[in-house]
Formats: sequence, C-alpha cells, structure tokens
Amino acid sequence: MAFFFVQMADPQFGMFAFFSTLTDEEVEERWRRRLFVRKAPEIITGFADESRLYTLAIEASNRLKPAFVAMCGDMVNDPKDQNQLDELFRITAMLQDDIPIHWVSGNHDVGDAPTTESLALYRERFGPDNFSFDHDGCHFAVINSSVCYNPENVPDEWESIVQFLKDDLSTARANGCEDIILFTHHPLFLERADEGDGYFVIPRDRRKVILDILHEHDVSSVFAGHWHRNNYAEDGKLQMVVTGAVGYPLGDDPSGLRVVKVRGDGVTHKYYAMDDLPDSIAL
Ligand SMILES: [Fe+2]
Repeated sequence: MAFFFVQMADPQFGMFAFFSTLTDEEVEERWRRRLFVRKAPEIITGFADESRLYTLAIEASNRLKPAFVAMCGDMVNDPKDQNQLDELFRITAMLQDDIPIHWVSGNHDVGDAPTTESLALYRERFGPDNFSFDHDGCHFAVINSSVCYNPENVPDEWESIVQFLKDDLSTARANGCEDIILFTHHPLFLERADEGDGYFVIPRDRRKVILDILHEHDVSSVFAGHWHRNNYAEDGKLQMVVTGAVGYPLGDDPSGLRVVKVRGDGVTHKYYAMDDLPDSIAL
C-alpha cells in the first residue's frame, strides 16, 4: 500500500463577490465569529478568482496523477445560483477521466440545517452524501457533516449516518482493510476532542457519538474543510486535519490544496499554496 491522493475544500464559487459587498460592521461581526474576512478594496461580481484558483487545482491534479481527488465541501457559495454550479462543473470536467473525484457535502451545498429538499437537490447534483470507497487496501468513508452539525429538520438522517458509519467501518475491518480515513466538511474539533460547541465544529454530543465509532474501528485520520484555513489536532491516535480553501482564504493560509500520502507506515500530508504547487510527488 503506497499511494497519494489530493484533498481540496471550499472552492465556493461566488464567495469573493459575496464578501466584497460586506460593510465594515459586517466584517467586524464576522471576526467576532472567528471568520477572518478582509475588507475588499472594491465590490466585485462573478467568480473570476474562484475559476482561476480551481483551474490551478485541477491542472495540478492532472499533472500529479493522484489516486483520486476528495473535495471536502462548499463547492459553491449559493446552491440556488446555477451559474456558480455550471462553472464548478465546467472546470471539474477538465479533470482527467482516470482520476475519480469524490464529493463531500458542505453547509453551503445543503444548508446549515439541511432539509429533505436541500438533501434531495444535493443528491441529484452530486450523488450520495454518505458513502464509502476503497483504494489499494485503504478504506475511505464520507459523511454529511451538516446533518451532524444540525439535524433538527432531518433527525432520521442523523440516525442513518450513525448506522451507516457503524456498519460500514465494521465491514471494512472485517474485510481486512489496512487503514480507514474519514472525509467530512465540518471538523469534528479544532483543538481538543472535548472542546465546546461553535460554528466551525460538530457539536460535542454528536461529535462524541462519531468519535466513539471512529476509535472503535481504529480510524487513523479525518480530513475536513469549512474553516478556510489549515488546522491540526489529535485525539489519541486519530489525527484531525483541516485544510485551507481552494477559494477564499480566511486567515493567513493562502488558497491551496493538500497532498496526502498513504503508506504502510501511516498517513502523512502537506498543504501547498496555489502559487507553489509541485510538479510531481515522490512516495
Ligand atoms: Fe466554506
């Protein structure tokens, strides 16, 4: 087992334009929520920045030839804006056919409190939101973390995520997989597994349910997005990795993507800025 994949998050077509319209007060309000928005020098429209950045990410993937691309959510800023979706899919279509892309649902794709309708629309556009796949002895699971964040409109969906994870991970272990990795949009936590609730993490009660299942099946790593900046934390042997945005960055980490190496001796990874992408990856 020795391969690498590319993890991306938050290309979020339309976010540069949306944030360029914020007033000083609205920028300040976001900083209070740890959303480190910068006041734009002028109002912009469209999504030229997102197109440029996502194109660089797709071109790098074609050059590096990863086993697959995992896109950890917030594909567009406004799921009702067909232009944003069209541009996302236009650029995605440039990814070579032999490199699969696995979509992970983000809160901008299904809503901060998903509904039956928002989930149905997402599944129509992107396929299932809870699923798993294997590559070269390693098992990968994907869950809809916006449901985990707030399942009040779709309580059955939360129950089915819990059941899916339990069943899927035990089957993977029974089949002798060498490692298990989980993809989400929301981080489970940012510093400690028992930290308090907040906008950027899955609330503590449901976080514990998920973490207990992950530990029971020896999941090594969780890769997420949502914060638009990098972050690294651990809970025992589990590493919780948050990856900066393909699109609009919040904080000091530039727009970029992460290369993750999976080998018999563990899972290692490195974040690359879009203006410093590698030509090749040595395992
Ligand atoms: Fe986002």
